[in-house]
Amino acid sequence: MGKSYNIAVMPGDGTGPEVVGEAVKVLSAAENKFGFTLNKTTFDLGGERYLKTGDILPDKDFAELKKNDAILLGAVGHVNVKPGILERGLLLKIRFELDQYINLRPVKLFPGVESPIRGKGPKEIDYTVVRENTGGLYTGFGGVAMKGTPHEVAEQCMVYNRHQVERCLRFAFEYARKHGKKARGVGENNTLALIGKTNVLVYVFDLWERAFHEIGEQDYPDVKREYYHVDATCLYMVTNPEWFDVLVTTNMFGDIITDLGAITQGGLGVAAGGNINPSGLSMFEPIGGTAPSWTGKNAINPIAAIGAGAMMLQHLGETEAAAAIENAIRQTTPKMKSQLANQMGFTTTQVGDLVAAAV
Ligand code: IPM
Ligand code: MN
Repeated sequence: MGKSYNIAVMPGDGTGPEVVGEAVKVLSAAENKFGFTLNKTTFDLGGERYLKTGDILPDKDFAELKKNDAILLGAVGHVNVKPGILERGLLLKIRFELDQYINLRPVKLFPGVESPIRGKGPKEIDYTVVRENTGGLYTGFGGVAMKGTPHEVAEQCMVYNRHQVERCLRFAFEYARKHGKKARGVGENNTLALIGKTNVLVYVFDLWERAFHEIGEQDYPDVKREYYHVDATCLYMVTNPEWFDVLVTTNMFGDIITDLGAITQGGLGVAAGGNINPSGLSMFEPIGGTAPSWTGKNAINPIAAIGAGAMMLQHLGETEAAAAIENAIRQTTPKMKSQLANQMGFTTTQVGDLVAAAV
């Protein structure tokens, strides 16, 4: 008998339920093939429920959510809910309260997927961003005074302490050691690049830079260390993505560069990520949003959600099944005309069927 895991499924809003449905379909195929069980509980959280009941994440639901081994999320956001309410009340609340301090975002171009970058293929676009996920500009330090007057002052601070920086860097070094280009047999080194702005944000990035070299020198001498400014990183992500292996950066910079990364790998329909607490409860999600205009049309791309399912299995230790799903994705993307909604040459459910069959 294989292992069994409790999974919280949060389909959310918009196209979330459609893509999560396909992820669950593919996960079921993996369960059958590899003999483990995912006991799934669906949580009705998101904009629809908020509009009906005023609930965002009630304590009772949160307590139930916490009983699970992992969370699979579709998307949250609703056209009739003021931006920020669900993001902060649900998504960020889960990240913060479950201390999911890593946001792991692979930037991988799958075979047959067209990148907007000319001349770069799956060999060149193949790296991972480790985004610090609970600190920095997202901490909420700051305030406003004299609001609405000509003297209004607003402040929002980038704050980090050594503890947050260190645990994020250690995760990134470990990740580079285990999953870097050398470990995967596709490069000479396992390389970790710190992405910062040491030339301007001299306090915060001095802390990051010192910790980076201290920890690297002491505990990860086998991992090659590099540093890039964040603006230059955006440039190189387009001109020389092959330079990158594993990148580590702050919450806000990571948010921004992973959207750029996502478009280079074929768009938000493909990009998956994991909000990880290495010793707690983690949450996996397609990076894309709710895509309101495609909702209910069976036209949205489920590859990102399916990829998030694979990352979840990897995290749970079902590494063979995770690899099988990734391979199944690699067999499916070349058959698709495009990764854009309604242009895939298949419906959402057909793409799910193809991946599930390949598993
Ligand atoms: C992301 C999103 C979130 C973030 C928003 C929805 C709060 O953009 O997951 O990247 O900023 O982290
Ligand atoms: Mn984002």
